[in-house]
Amino acid sequence: MFKRLVEILAVSAACVAAFPAAAQEPLKIGMVLEMSGGFADFGMQMMNGARAYMKVHGDTVAGRKVQLIVKDTTGVPDVAKRVAQELVTNDKVDFLAGFGLTPSALAVASLATEAKKPMIVMNAATSIITTRSPYIARVSFTLPQVTAPLATWALRNGITRAYTLVADYGPGIDAETQFKKTFTASGGQIVGDVRTPMRNPEFAPFLQRIKDARPQAVFVFLPAGEQAVGFMKGFAERELDKAGIKLIATGDVTEDGVIEAMGDAPLGVVTTQHYSVAHDSAQNRIFLKAYAEVSGSSQRANFMAVGAWDGMAAIYEVARRLNGAIDGDKAMEILKGMKIDSPRGPVTIDPATRDPIETIYVRRVERLKDGKLYNVEFDQFTNVKDPTR
Ligand code: DHB
Repeated sequence: MFKRLVEILAVSAACVAAFPAAAQEPLKIGMVLEMSGGFADFGMQMMNGARAYMKVHGDTVAGRKVQLIVKDTTGVPDVAKRVAQELVTNDKVDFLAGFGLTPSALAVASLATEAKKPMIVMNAATSIITTRSPYIARVSFTLPQVTAPLATWALRNGITRAYTLVADYGPGIDAETQFKKTFTASGGQIVGDVRTPMRNPEFAPFLQRIKDARPQAVFVFLPAGEQAVGFMKGFAERELDKAGIKLIATGDVTEDGVIEAMGDAPLGVVTTQHYSVAHDSAQNRIFLKAYAEVSGSSQRANFMAVGAWDGMAAIYEVARRLNGAIDGDKAMEILKGMKIDSPRGPVTIDPATRDPIETIYVRRVERLKDGKLYNVEFDQFTNVKDPTR
């Protein structure tokens, strides 16, 4: 027994001698995620999206074992900053990644610059994020990028009088600004606007105000999850649909992970976004199968899980191209212009902005044969960039 152990140790020593030290250490990915609090679903989706990628593509890349180190921001930017600092200083991670919420991503940007750590934003979607550090690349989307196509679609489909309702922080303000810009530039009229608190909003009074203003449509951005469910229920209860007011929204509002909790309320709602579970592609089928296996739950994947999958694809590609020796500046050069074959379709990281260029789909909520609600894609805008940059 002891002799066998000595043999194993000898073989390990030989391996250590044959490869440079760095090649033996795990490739550490520090995941800064919302794992508790009101946005805990974001972290769960993103962690499982990353794990699904590793299940399909292996847990070793360029000779290095991949290690995800997950830290909880609790949804608070100062906590995000502290845990990111720990990941850099104590865990000595090769990449920072994750970031469901914009305020968390913004809080960590200066640290990425100081530490020269590539920071892969897998969701947070306010435009300015990538301007805050040259070490940030985003694989997800921006709110103006999905909102401009929706305003164009609305005008093409006879909607000329709209009200806007958005969450009162970065992504909501971006969505509102872009919707108004694109909509009014081609003759649309905004008849009212409202911004709702980022935490625990009460929608009833706002919905009544919108109903009284009698717009043809209300445009909405709310962070995915609980808020979207609350809004959708209120919309149906106050019978805005019966008053002839159409709901048009970014895909966050009819997000795949929670749409089943909305009953029939979202049927027929038109949204724009970069990902739907119903997207018909081989990559998407592979992604969904792996996601279901690693999550062990019946809750469906959403766009945040896809963002994490794609972020892992980007990290693996950087690791391969650098033969496992990660250097922040070299990593960023590789990320600029990188093409990712995503479950949502092809994505290119714009070398000028480090933001994704991708197809934005127009979708309508339908109940399909399996009895479940889906965002069914029926139109698309290809090669869409963030229009504000
Ligand atoms: C954020 C963006 C989203 O699209 C979303 O659904 C939730 C949060 C954000 O950037 O904070």
